[in-house]
Amino acid sequence: MPRELSLADIFQIGYYWETKILLTAIQLDLFSILKGASLTINQMAEIRGLNSRALELVMNALVAMRIVRKEEKVYANTVVAERYLVQSSPEYVGHLLTLHDAEWKNWGFLEQAVKTGESPVKHHVFETDPELGAQVLTVLDRIGRGSGPALAQRLKLNGAKRMLDIGGGAGTNAIAFCREYSELTATVFDLPETLKVTKKNVEEADLTDRIQLQPGNFHEDAFQGSYDVALMSDILHYQNGQTNAALVEKVYDCLKEEGRLLIKDRFLDPARTSPAWTTAFAVHILVNTEKGECFTIEESRQWMQQAGFQGIEELEPCAMVQGTK
Ligand SMILES: C[S@@+](CC[C@H](N)C(=O)[O-])C[C@H]1O[C@@H](n2cnc3c(N)ncnc32)[C@H](O)[C@@H]1O
Repeated sequence: MPRELSLADIFQIGYYWETKILLTAIQLDLFSILKGASLTINQMAEIRGLNSRALELVMNALVAMRIVRKEEKVYANTVVAERYLVQSSPEYVGHLLTLHDAEWKNWGFLEQAVKTGESPVKHHVFETDPELGAQVLTVLDRIGRGSGPALAQRLKLNGAKRMLDIGGGAGTNAIAFCREYSELTATVFDLPETLKVTKKNVEEADLTDRIQLQPGNFHEDAFQGSYDVALMSDILHYQNGQTNAALVEKVYDCLKEEGRLLIKDRFLDPARTSPAWTTAFAVHILVNTEKGECFTIEESRQWMQQAGFQGIEELEPCAMVQGTK
């Protein structure tokens, strides 16, 4: 049994100060100026044109948060900040956190959203700010590259020739799957702006002869061709259940007989109270999308059943489900 929360824990959750301090440091790109260097506040303030007194308060808080170090009067990055928060690092994740900062104002409407059930947001980041969307996808891609090969092996796609990756993003899964299965070719269907990132990745992976890109809006445009496997990975939560049911039906139509649909997402458990991250993500989706939601595996099973899929099974708890045409 997890221990009961103390009052200190409640305060820790309620004080979002540390979150905003970190996000602001990323926006100001403070960690990049400390790359391989130890600097005083005045040196840092001069480089970025900032107010030294205010900057010192932020830097001291970051020291207390163990994100930077301070010795005497000079500040330096910790190992983790140097690796993940310095823009020129190949493992930089700041863009993902920048997205959260961009959504900061939307969170101010949570109370209103709870009263009305409606969010002030009408479009998601991939539609409103494709440049930030592309940067976010680049970070997600880097993280996904770690798990992609193991996922490809687990799914046992031997014999499959054609795969459709709907909302395939940076092409992370299509690339991992094509590398694992030499007979497989893939089509990544995504918004035209997103496909610019995909194109670059597919070229870098030297898979342009096996991975095709199809620009389009999956609510409006037809999927061209017929496929042995279709993947819907992390795309369900931008829309409501009814729209997802229609999307699953559309995917059913473009699969060959015995074709497989794989849905990978952040699902909630039947009680909708775990996994903890996903319960908070569901609130994030409430304030940051017009009609998005987080769903249970059971709900996705119903969409598949309605479309005609059979042999529906949960491959990974709260993460992956598949059905066969
Ligand atoms: C969170 S990303 C997931 C990317 C990828 N499937 C993965 O698992 O790494 C969501 C993707 O859905 C795409 N997307 C969102 N709405 C779309 C739409 N209406 N039509 C086509 N693609 C869409 C976005 O451009 C983005 O690439």
